[in-house]
Amino acid sequence: MKGIILAGGSGTRLYPLTLVSSKQLLPVYDKPLIYYPLTTLISAGIKDILVISTPQDTPRIESLLGDGRNYGVKLQYLAQPAPEGIAQAFILGQSFIGDDEVALILGDNLFYGGGLRSQLKEAAKEAREGKATFFAYFVKDPERFGTIAIDEQGQLSGIREKDPHPSTSYAVTGLYFYPSGVSAKAKGLKKSPRGEYEISDLNNLYIEKKQAVVRVLGRGYTWLDCGTPDSLKEAADFVHSVQSHEGLYIGCPEEAAYREGYIGKDILIERAEALSHCAYGRYLKALTEATYLQEGRIV
Ligand code: G1P
Repeated sequence: MKGIILAGGSGTRLYPLTLVSSKQLLPVYDKPLIYYPLTTLISAGIKDILVISTPQDTPRIESLLGDGRNYGVKLQYLAQPAPEGIAQAFILGQSFIGDDEVALILGDNLFYGGGLRSQLKEAAKEAREGKATFFAYFVKDPERFGTIAIDEQGQLSGIREKDPHPSTSYAVTGLYFYPSGVSAKAKGLKKSPRGEYEISDLNNLYIEKKQAVVRVLGRGYTWLDCGTPDSLKEAADFVHSVQSHEGLYIGCPEEAAYREGYIGKDILIERAEALSHCAYGRYLKALTEATYLQEGRIV
């Protein structure tokens, strides 16, 4: 299975913060924003990842993340000449995806919650079985998002994009899993009135064919996008409060890679030493020394 991080867009809602720097490189408390979606894809078991960004930001992101060696994954980069919608990623990334299944995550999306790892792995399995999987999350302002629509039988009937009167308050988050063949489907899409290849149009094709699963991320999960100054601050506050309370980090790709078995202690120690002057480096060092138990019963 392949993975794509779509880190495009001009970040106009964050001006002047993003006048000269990439949104995905802005800090969310103690890490660059893009660490969070990268960690999510690694936790899904994905080792082959394409980062798509603007022509000016792609080299900066590449100099931050490199070829992926530090995270036990292979990272490739592609510039999106003009932002023409999320679904365009599957057209631009067609040769990277090939005949594989693919997961796409938006570069400004932060997911957190116990059980997320297994939900992600289930979604990857569903993709291998020919189904697309989307994640839904209850929000206060559903009209800002794509929302899940349900028919009278309680069955999934579609996704409505920016519906001013949505029938549910469940937003479709920026994380999508697809079976083989998504690029061909994306190529058949027409641009919407806002000039974009809409991800919701693509997702509705799967829903119409009954080839889609929606996983609701309920209480106990956190989903944040960091597209506005308020949501960026909210995300930073959230990460700070969880990390200082629990002592475990959110959005640490080296940790996710270590737990997945993608990197060994040698690379973790190397990274910890390279970053030894900061708390992040000390956290990596502690990971190499501590014993961590899996969630669940010990008998
Ligand atoms: C996009 C999608 C929307 C989804 C949202 C998640 O919205 O079109 O369906 O709910 O991402 O962040 P956009 O950011 O393009 O307004």
